[in-house]
Amino acid sequence: MTEHQSPDVTPVAVIGLGLMGQALAGAFLGGGAPTTVWNRTASKGDALVAAGARRAGSAREAVEAVGPDGLVVLCLTDYDAVREVLEPLGGVLAGRVLVNLTSGTSAAAREVAELMARTGGAYLDGAIMATPDGIGADDAAVLVSGDPAAWDRYGATLRLLGGGTARIGADHGLAALYEMGVLGLMWGVLNGFLHGAALLGAAGVSAEAFAPVARHGIGTVAGWLTDYARRVDAGDHASPDATLETHLATMDHLVHESEALGVDAELPRFVRELARRAAAAGHGGDEYSVMADVFRGRVGAPS
Ligand SMILES: NC(=O)c1ccc[n+]([C@@H]2O[C@H](COP(=O)([O-])OP(=O)(O)OC[C@H]3O[C@@H](n4cnc5c(N)ncnc54)[C@H](OP(=O)(O)O)[C@@H]3O)[C@@H](O)[C@H]2O)c1
Repeated sequence: MTEHQSPDVTPVAVIGLGLMGQALAGAFLGGGAPTTVWNRTASKGDALVAAGARRAGSAREAVEAVGPDGLVVLCLTDYDAVREVLEPLGGVLAGRVLVNLTSGTSAAAREVAELMARTGGAYLDGAIMATPDGIGADDAAVLVSGDPAAWDRYGATLRLLGGGTARIGADHGLAALYEMGVLGLMWGVLNGFLHGAALLGAAGVSAEAFAPVARHGIGTVAGWLTDYARRVDAGDHASPDATLETHLATMDHLVHESEALGVDAELPRFVRELARRAAAAGHGGDEYSVMADVFRGRVGAPS
């Protein structure tokens, strides 16, 4: 144990030192965890080795180097890479805990959980809710799902990655599902902002001037989520603050404004088409939260 190491922090092997893997390894190292690193392109580990990490010559050597109490962390491009790295390891993962922070689907995460179960190891799947420069900060979070005993053993080490790091359930697929939900949210918000910036740009207004107004609008909408979530869970979209028909009328304005200004109108047309399907199915007087039922395929199937 180093002088900075908390007694709860364990040795860690980080396999995959891309932009994110380097940040993860740096946070483990900075938090006092004895850290062994391996990357296919070895030079990406040079700065970490200079900062005190141990370099392994292979993924197998990295797993062996941290010993039976060590945590094995994977962060690779995708699940093809995960399979390519894990399959040759076989029995060396027996009795070990693997945390996979590679992005992918819930089905892919559950497949790795089965592979680890067959190997005699435990598995946690994780979704990183931060960019590399945010790793280790109080507001960074890694959402982890899977084996409860593995979380009890390694939660303190994983919390070095961000103050909001938490386990969200036993189903190994949950972290990936949360990540998908947040990614959809991210693209929805970013596309809305960038489309709005294109509209204002047509009148000579810079994106920088629009940004504070957009940020305020995002905050206003974020304030609606608690009520929307309650409505979605209860299946109750009555007594709206604004009806779906009112939303549809303003969607028309957005489509027409975009067309008039030569701004691509495909995104607002698509959003309007989804809402029209719900209205055609008799939900025009409901709160906009009823769109959850369109996404669930319960109302307004495409004609
Ligand atoms: N960057 C972010 O902001 C961010 C945020 C959240 C989540 N993530 C997720 O984190 C994961 C890694 O992202 P990144 O930004 O670090 O990507 P990256 O910089 O492109 O790094 C990819 C890593 O995967 C390794 N790799 C790919 N194929 C491999 C194979 N067949 N065998 C062994 N190693 C292989 C690469 O090794 P080489 O160096 O040898 O090519 C590299 O270490 C992704 O799933 C990403 O979605 C990233």
